[in-house]
Amino acid sequence: MRAGSRLAISPYVTHRMPEVWPGPERFRPGRWDPQESLHRPAAPSAFLPFGGGRHRCVGAPFATAELKTILAELLRSVDLRLLTDVAPASIIVMRPRRGLPVAVRRRT
Ligand code: HEM
Repeated sequence: MRAGSRLAISPYVTHRMPEVWPGPERFRPGRWDPQESLHRPAAPSAFLPFGGGRHRCVGAPFATAELKTILAELLRSVDLRLLTDVAPASIIVMRPRRGLPVAVRRRT
């Protein structure tokens, strides 16, 4: 690549590269579990939900802690079941094209 070239980085594409993320289309939360055989620590260039480089999101640690806390609290009292396939839509940021309908059942 020549100096001055434009370079576009796509988190969507990077997050779906099987050589970087084995079985990228499978929802397998265990891939984040250090006890799992396929677990690898994510390199900064491989996991880009918060961008990268000098302008990487300054709120990333806060947003990550907030999401984990909300999910942990929520899943203590309810089970969530996804009702449809998730299709991505992207303009500036990614979002589920048809929303994210879930069935909510109180845990006993
Ligand atoms: C899940 C939640 C969040 C996501 C997915 C997200 C994602 C991003 C992304 C992709 C960027 C652009 C990075 C780049 O240009 O390479 C960014 C920038 C930024 N984010 Fe977030 N963000 C989140 C939450 C937050 C929160 C909670 C705050 C503040 C408390 C925050 C503050 C910022 C700021 C100030 C920038 C600009 C950084 C700069 O240009 O130097 N973000 N974020």
